Amino acid sequence: MNINHTITATTPPHGGDVYHLARTLGLDLADLLDFSANINPLGFPPGIAGAIHQALSEIVHYPDRRCLELRRDLAAYHHLTPEQILLGNGSTELIYLVARALSPRQALIVAPAFSEYEHALKVAQVPVAFQITSEGQNYTLAEPLDPKGADLVFLANPASPSGVLLAPELLLAVAAALDAAGVYLLLDEAFIDFVEQASLKTHLARFPHLLILRSFTKFYGIPGMRLGCLLAAPDLIARLAAVQEPWSVSTLAQAMGRACLQDLDYMARSRVLVSQERDYLLAGLKSLPGLRPFPSAVNYLLVKITRPDWTAASLQKALLARKVVIRDAGNFRGLDERFFRIAVRRHEENKQLLEALRHSLT
Ligand SMILES: Cc1ncc(COP(=O)(O)O)c(C=O)c1O
Repeated sequence: MNINHTITATTPPHGGDVYHLARTLGLDLADLLDFSANINPLGFPPGIAGAIHQALSEIVHYPDRRCLELRRDLAAYHHLTPEQILLGNGSTELIYLVARALSPRQALIVAPAFSEYEHALKVAQVPVAFQITSEGQNYTLAEPLDPKGADLVFLANPASPSGVLLAPELLLAVAAALDAAGVYLLLDEAFIDFVEQASLKTHLARFPHLLILRSFTKFYGIPGMRLGCLLAAPDLIARLAAVQEPWSVSTLAQAMGRACLQDLDYMARSRVLVSQERDYLLAGLKSLPGLRPFPSAVNYLLVKITRPDWTAASLQKALLARKVVIRDAGNFRGLDERFFRIAVRRHEENKQLLEALRHSLT
């Protein structure tokens, strides 16, 4: 039977679509060196395997739909209460839940941004406006935000796809102004674990309209497991929980989440490795003709091609011939065909990427 792999015409494209790519190219998954999805280069915390093994006997039951033990562990980790936490099947599920459950009249997205915000709002039939940030500001917010009549704002810190952190005073001022105006702020901190001290979680109790989105996918290297959470005021969490599908977080995902939070050594090693390798990649990219990387704080780098003879698409194709996959970032609203994004991986792999780029560009 010939299976059509197109999911839908309107589903936004993403990095990390390696199954499709390997099938199309007639390769094994393991043949591809994937820089298009931003996943911790250390892989997942080693304790996960034992946790899964232990939890296996429980899969004859439905999962704990309240995710109580994981919420308790997360509360202890983030210095919050379990009532301030809602788990989901990846943070993407929670983006769709917020768009649907809060019934906003109008939403504003600070762009460029993760494309699922816009898609979720469209599916929920919410009108969307955009605030496009500029290259001069490294594609992150640089001044107070005018919600332009919106009652729900989507903003990522660090910015996606530039990886640049917002100035802390500005972020606080934006959160305070939106909250005072009764505007919900969905602050996407999917990558903040790499710079945990920059999280706005310590101010959560001050802002009843603030929703902080977190993901286990990136930092703990488990995109295939699907686990994310929202941090917000208890009444807001209860309102969202009341309309969430039951059992969206499996027993194994809950067990993995708990195991992730125990491994402080893995967390520390991840931050050190990513910081070192990001510096190595940045220096290598700057030494190549016609590339301008942005000063990311996390495990991915946005790069602009500043010479006229290449586009992200042509570079992507050239690298694919060497089985290296990069993310063409031209489809992010506010960017164009000159932008691509790469993940920070292990040293040998980063070296391979730089060599492949050098071979193509020089
Ligand atoms: C900025 C940002 N937020 C959220 C997500 C969703 O991640 P997940 O659903 O795997 O938690 C992504 C995924 O690429 C992302 O880039």
